[in-house]
Amino acid sequence: MIDAHFSAAVRSGVAQWMQTNSIEDCQKALADPVQLATELTPPVLAAMIEAGTSLHALQERAWIHPVIHLRNVFEATALPETPSAFVPIPEHPATIAARAAAIVALAMLNAQTVSYGSENDGHLFVNLVVLPGDGDFANKSKGDMRGHTDGVYFPIRGQEHELEKRFAPSPDFVCLSGLRNPDSVSTTVMPLSSVLALLSPKDVEELTKPQYVLRPQKTFRVGFKKLFGSDCQFLKPLPGVQLLFVGDNGHWIRFSHSAAVAEDDSSPASQAIGRFEQACLKCADSVVVAPGDVVIVNNRIGLHGRSEVGGEPGGTSRWLLRTYGLDVEDLSEQQRYSDSVFKLYP
Ligand SMILES: [Fe+2]
Repeated sequence: MIDAHFSAAVRSGVAQWMQTNSIEDCQKALADPVQLATELTPPVLAAMIEAGTSLHALQERAWIHPVIHLRNVFEATALPETPSAFVPIPEHPATIAARAAAIVALAMLNAQTVSYGSENDGHLFVNLVVLPGDGDFANKSKGDMRGHTDGVYFPIRGQEHELEKRFAPSPDFVCLSGLRNPDSVSTTVMPLSSVLALLSPKDVEELTKPQYVLRPQKTFRVGFKKLFGSDCQFLKPLPGVQLLFVGDNGHWIRFSHSAAVAEDDSSPASQAIGRFEQACLKCADSVVVAPGDVVIVNNRIGLHGRSEVGGEPGGTSRWLLRTYGLDVEDLSEQQRYSDSVFKLYP
């Protein structure tokens, strides 16, 4: 019921904003997501309260259930051709509404819409589409994806990076806005609590030890090379990483399948990770991000993946926009870029 009230409130807030401003002004407003969130939040909040849902109940839910599915919150019609690169986002009423809906939905969850300077040159939104060619990125864009958290090379909120304290935390939320999904390809979400319920206390304990090795995800590797050079230490496997964290309200996770243990396969650390991966497969819930939907995945208490996309780039192929949300209250100045209200370091 909360999701339905939240959907209706975001839908009316965004529609009203699009009606009362010219499309040029709406487009310009996206350049400052902090200001736009300030403008869009009051009417959305008022609509939620009128429907009988409190902000507290919504925010509490976002930290218990790892996925919030907002259905049909913006108009995804008369679209241009699906682009075939991460950026730029084609300027069009549907993509403007898709971005505004994401920004206000994240703001309602006390999260600022953010990007990282080291991924896709710091663009706030990227197209998730089938990419042309047969390189690494192209193949990855067509294939399925196993459970992971985004920005895995970065620390969870509240902790410092193992090598560089200027590095901002990974996002609290991954936000997907649906423009096209002709084959109803599923996004998969694995609630961490369900995954851990399948593991022994011993395995859970292993995962909380700082004994794992992580590598940055592909999109960030490109950015690290640009920012720090090909020989930088951040491109090398990072040892001494903890994957699972015990907090006041349960566990948080930092995980990707490129995480590996440094020791041999028979070590308890390695076995725990193997069983964790197996448990993820058993706990995957499917969500179809349909045109006009916004799906917000909690990147701390859930892992996400995707079933196979396939097909050809461009035309009317699958097209989502992705951005991130983060509670920025405890970020330091050094973890941001001084020339941007939304771009995080590195
Ligand atoms: Fe992801």
